[in-house]
Amino acid sequence: MTASDAERLFLKSRQRVKSYGEVFTPRPMVDQMLDLVSDDLEMGEEFVDKTFLEPAAGDGNFLVAILQRKLAAIEERFDPSIWSRESLFAIASVYAIELLEDNHRDAHDALLGEFVKFHESHGTRCGPRTDLFRAAAFIVRTNVVRGNTLTGRTPGGQEIEFSWWIRQPGDPEMTKREPFTLNSLRDPGAFDFTVYVSYEPCPIHHVHKKANADV
Ligand SMILES: C[S@@+](CC[C@H](N)C(=O)[O-])C[C@H]1O[C@@H](n2cnc3c(N)ncnc32)[C@H](O)[C@@H]1O
Repeated sequence: MTASDAERLFLKSRQRVKSYGEVFTPRPMVDQMLDLVSDDLEMGEEFVDKTFLEPAAGDGNFLVAILQRKLAAIEERFDPSIWSRESLFAIASVYAIELLEDNHRDAHDALLGEFVKFHESHGTRCGPRTDLFRAAAFIVRTNVVRGNTLTGRTPGGQEIEFSWWIRQPGDPEMTKREPFTLNSLRDPGAFDFTVYVSYEPCPIHHVHKKANADV
């Protein structure tokens, strides 16, 4: 890299710090902050399903750390036969918003990459053609959204929409996708007149096959 390349990069990042507050939290500080919510994240009864929303995801450093800790707890506490199912519910519990296109892509890739790394390190196939990968990639695309947290809108001006991935009583494999808008969370007492698409329950390994609505 030449000196002028380095200077351009520096100026770009200086401008981004000024315009978007783009300063990344170092990993030791991320860990200290997550220690404060350890009960919900990895200790309590229903830790897998405890939801986390990162409103300014940056390159995904908090998302990766949250998923790592949930996956480590799954590994420690559950039988290996249910690791893939529980890992999908874990990734489904992590939500994020990011304004900038490149950071949004990095956050998405980092979260999905961490999921794949966990499974490959245990000898579980998680290549792009597996249902495990496709379901995780679909969930990450749905949960990690590009937009403005302050306005609750995407770059195209639409409402930021997320989904709950609700476990179905009686069958631990099954989930039901329930869409909601970010703005609907801000005033829970108010009526939400948004017309949401409705989805039939399906196995969590097959959520990517339910991309179309069952009306
Ligand atoms: C200070 S960085 C923090 C990144 C990460 N949370 C961390 O602590 O390392 C801020 C990030 O928030 C994004 N951002 C700034 N304003 C935003 C907004 N209104 N909505 C969503 N993201 C925003 C920036 O693009 C940048 O990637």
